[in-house]
Amino acid sequence: MIGAGPGGLGPSTRAVRAGLPPAERGQPLRPGPVPAAIYHLGGPGDGTDGYGRVDNPTWRGYERALGELEGGGALVFSSGLAALTAVLLTALGPGDTVVVPSDGYYLARRFVAERLVSQGIRAREVPTAAPLTDADVAGATLVLLESPSNPWLDVRDLRAAADVAHAAGAAVAVDNTAATPLGQFPLALGADYSICSDTKATTGHGDLVLGHVAVADPGLLAALTGWRRMTGAVPGPLEVWLAHRSLATLQLRLTRQSDNALALAAALRDHPAVSEVRHPGLPSDPGHEVAARQMSCFGGLVTFLLPSAGAVAAFLDASRLVTDATSFGDLHTTADRRARWGDPVPPGLVRLSAGIEDAADLVADVRAALDAVVDSAA
Ligand SMILES: Cc1ncc(COP(=O)(O)O)c(C=O)c1O
Repeated sequence: MIGAGPGGLGPSTRAVRAGLPPAERGQPLRPGPVPAAIYHLGGPGDGTDGYGRVDNPTWRGYERALGELEGGGALVFSSGLAALTAVLLTALGPGDTVVVPSDGYYLARRFVAERLVSQGIRAREVPTAAPLTDADVAGATLVLLESPSNPWLDVRDLRAAADVAHAAGAAVAVDNTAATPLGQFPLALGADYSICSDTKATTGHGDLVLGHVAVADPGLLAALTGWRRMTGAVPGPLEVWLAHRSLATLQLRLTRQSDNALALAAALRDHPAVSEVRHPGLPSDPGHEVAARQMSCFGGLVTFLLPSAGAVAAFLDASRLVTDATSFGDLHTTADRRARWGDPVPPGLVRLSAGIEDAADLVADVRAALDAVVDSAA
């Protein structure tokens, strides 16, 4: 696994201090939120704030933090999808070709198919598990990758894929949502854009919707900043303040979720009701070797197969600790039957998001709920 990531210090140290101003006597360690729409205007071009859609001190603090963690410049958006579409719409124009994962986040694929193709942009879908080839990226302007992919948790060798895409003249964007800005560093692995839904484990308390993009190139940052200002895809300062506060515990939450996910994956693998289990931390997982090289933490997601939609319902009914909920990365363990949202997956596929509960409790609960699935089928 790669070490602490950009910045030298360990991940918990960086997360706790990220984006904060130097401590000043008599001042709070963490500045409060600035919920301002209007400001007393300064002189033209003096760099002071003027209007709430353009910039905000609380955004800047969070963006500083994300930039420190990601190793680039960061820009916060009103949601992960707003961040993702900002990248697609600033990078692409009519006549361009975009490559998207055939097995990644379904709304990225749908946005491209339903909104971009009609604007004269060509789309090509490639699976995450197969190495990216020259043919996959021929003529492309942008290659969108997602690793681990959602929901199958396939792993893409990001460094190798970025090399192939760049050799063809394409820019590379990585949806880093499942990994988070401490679990994987796409910019250090060669990506031009690192995109994240901060709604998920990055903030991790299930109480806000947010996203961000990190880039190394100031030109890309300027283009995205202009885009955000023009489209108004801006977050509320209070959400951003909550997000920055939550970032301090990211490493703690992530390592616990990752440990719990691995314990659950091992228990699921051994249970007769389960036919397939995917988690990049399982040494037997097809993505493990690459994940161990490019991720600093495997994350809290586990995907597994039960025989049917009815079996998933029986599992969720029987469990006391796994809540039926979409999204992932929360403090609570949750699970989602992905076919209900139209993902092209078997009806019994479950994407489980491990929370920060005690591993022994989760394993005992999941085993008992799976036993109930077997009993209900008998
Ligand atoms: C991998 C991935 N990317 C992006 C998004 C979109 O994020 P948001 O819901 O914050 O708009 C999601 C949401 O589920 C996701 O799972």
